[in-house]
Amino acid sequence: MLSYLFEPDDATPAKPPATPYTPSAIIGASLARIDGPLKTTGRASYAADYNFPRMVYGVAVGSTIANGTVRSVDTSAAEKMPGVLLVLTHENINAPLRVPNGVRAGRNSETRGPLEDNVISYWGQYVALAVAETFEQAQAAAAAVRVQYDSKQPNVAILLDDANITSRTNSKRGDTDAAFPSAPVQIDETYVTPVETHNPMEMHATVAVWDGSKFILYECTQGVVNHLNVMAAVLGVPKENIQVISRFIGSGFGGKLFPWPHSALAATASRRLNRPVKLSVTRKQMFTSVGHRPRTQQRMRIGATPDGKLVSLQQDYRNHTSLGDNIGENCGEATPFLYSVANLQVTSAMVKRNVGAPTPMRGPGAVPGLFAVESAMDELAIKLKMDPVELRVRNDTLTDESNNKPFSSRHYKECLQIGAEKFGWSKRTPAIGSMRKGDLILGWGVAGASWGAGRGGSDATVTLKSDGTVRVSSATQDPGTGTYTIVAQIVSDRTGIPIDKIDVVLGDSSLVPGPTSGGSTATASVIPAVAQGTDAAVKSLLAIATQTSGSPFFQQDSTTLAISGGRIHAAGKPSQSGTPYQDLLKLAKAGDVTGNGHTGGLGSDTSARDYSTHSFGAQFVEVEWDPGIARLRVSRVVTVIDGGRIINQKTATNQVAGAVVMGVGMALMEQAIYDPRNGHPVNDNFADYLVPTHADSPAIDVHFLNIPDPMLGQYGARGIGEIGLAGVAPAITAAVYHATGIRVRSLPVRIEDLLASAV
Ligand code: MOS
Repeated sequence: MLSYLFEPDDATPAKPPATPYTPSAIIGASLARIDGPLKTTGRASYAADYNFPRMVYGVAVGSTIANGTVRSVDTSAAEKMPGVLLVLTHENINAPLRVPNGVRAGRNSETRGPLEDNVISYWGQYVALAVAETFEQAQAAAAAVRVQYDSKQPNVAILLDDANITSRTNSKRGDTDAAFPSAPVQIDETYVTPVETHNPMEMHATVAVWDGSKFILYECTQGVVNHLNVMAAVLGVPKENIQVISRFIGSGFGGKLFPWPHSALAATASRRLNRPVKLSVTRKQMFTSVGHRPRTQQRMRIGATPDGKLVSLQQDYRNHTSLGDNIGENCGEATPFLYSVANLQVTSAMVKRNVGAPTPMRGPGAVPGLFAVESAMDELAIKLKMDPVELRVRNDTLTDESNNKPFSSRHYKECLQIGAEKFGWSKRTPAIGSMRKGDLILGWGVAGASWGAGRGGSDATVTLKSDGTVRVSSATQDPGTGTYTIVAQIVSDRTGIPIDKIDVVLGDSSLVPGPTSGGSTATASVIPAVAQGTDAAVKSLLAIATQTSGSPFFQQDSTTLAISGGRIHAAGKPSQSGTPYQDLLKLAKAGDVTGNGHTGGLGSDTSARDYSTHSFGAQFVEVEWDPGIARLRVSRVVTVIDGGRIINQKTATNQVAGAVVMGVGMALMEQAIYDPRNGHPVNDNFADYLVPTHADSPAIDVHFLNIPDPMLGQYGARGIGEIGLAGVAPAITAAVYHATGIRVRSLPVRIEDLLASAV
């Protein structure tokens, strides 16, 4: 499921506790991000913000063809320009920068390294890197590099035309070939999602510092540890000779999960010149060189009884991939277990195109997959003349029928029911165009959501300091989601030490290993390690309290003591009766006490192996359609998420509300459009590639069920970064159908699609 993130086996078994743990009020609190002041005052350093003495600038040159070869690259003019120090090309790079076999670079590892040879397989592929004393000089030099190509016709076509593709079966039970044709009610439709680009606010950048033997790479990465591992292999240096720092990240959405070629180019230039090199990926390059969600095409066949019981479910999908990679978009992520159905088959295929490597984007596979599944469910409900909420409830299941395991904690039905209640769904009249608000026509739509729940291994180090502060560290990172804050909350929960005394240090590969921020698993992965590290530090502290003469707890049994409110006291007594922990450390002249946490992943947890772990949700959408001027707006969204225990109400709500806005973009705006003549994504800028603005954003009501998942550790927190996007687009297109009578099966919905509306 999340195999792109985890090794098949994690080291240490981590069993859920026998008795449920009841956390203090700091868990679930609506706490502002502790790093917020650093960001709002401009003191948070993102990768491109780092500057060093003697630092120079690299500017990458991208190919202007998408298929063919570089015939010649003439750098002579560029090299003579003021301040120019180096122009790297495939002719002078000397050492291949490719990921060796056996290194897990993630799904976006390109088969060929940057500047490895003269073969071009997508528009924008790097053909040179100009390095100069100033950014402007490097830009001018890059523009002066003369590249001649032998160009062939690229293939960036949509997927409909491909014949003779090879499919594989992803999931199968029963006999759909027999069950579908004999089903009394049938849906057979094809759904298409376009290329979407991640394009977070912060563009990719690397500042590479080579000191003659070691690299420090200032990066924007969702995984400092993985970035180090990959770059050590690519650059051919021992792992201990690389440090990756990513203190603050202007979001990633998956685009920063794995290293991209510019990082290796910056490091190579730094080593060649013996100077720090800053290399920023431009906004235009963000459309070609750092991944995208691939185009998908999905045929859905659903068979049902007249009373709405599913009897057969088929999803046959394909996605495009780059020439050098085989990257499957796992559109069947949720299909095999979302509904109870005896006969099911999911098949997939990949189709080669002249595009850069696709990569996971928020809810990879599940998000485009659920657009197809949940759109088809809406079409089935209409054919059955059944309420679409009722259809889903009727096919709910508490057993994962793909493997016959019970779900660890599944409350999909409650998401639908609570969402319907909050939205006011009972007032819906099903006829097209039947609901009005003044001159506007309202459309109401619903869709289900699901995303995997995983947990990887993690370490954490917690130091209780004699000055009354705490330092907690792990080599994970905070892409803007709130990881800094929830780590502090865990320490505070277990000690009562106030949040403002807790210093969280993340985003540095030299810390003890922590998880990649991906697959919505970082929270579930890191907090058990932080809890364990905190408990270990407290244990040492209590031992000191009982062993220090003059301590009020001298020669007491340390197991009768507790810490809360930052004070040590007799267990069961109030915190105020105790002694501030730092006073005891000072009395004992003990300095600081440190505890280490090391917890394993779900894969190594034998009790969890018997369960299927997933998050669920429901999206309810209202659109306003103004037929007089063909104007469509998403006006209101109610989203109900079953994501386990919520650690921080504010950051979690931010995650899901942001995902809803992203879903508006997916449904109505986003698509990268490739010029069929040369493979250039013609809308490679924020003027032409549309994303929602504030004015496009609906009123959003986010509700969490907040039910701890017993398989996800003491806190029972699943991830909530990706589930919020799942189901938004099909709920919007369902609402659009309800308002206009137009069923859009190929995203995004365009005004042109709606002009045929008879309403
Ligand atoms: Mo997420 S697409 O695993 O960053």
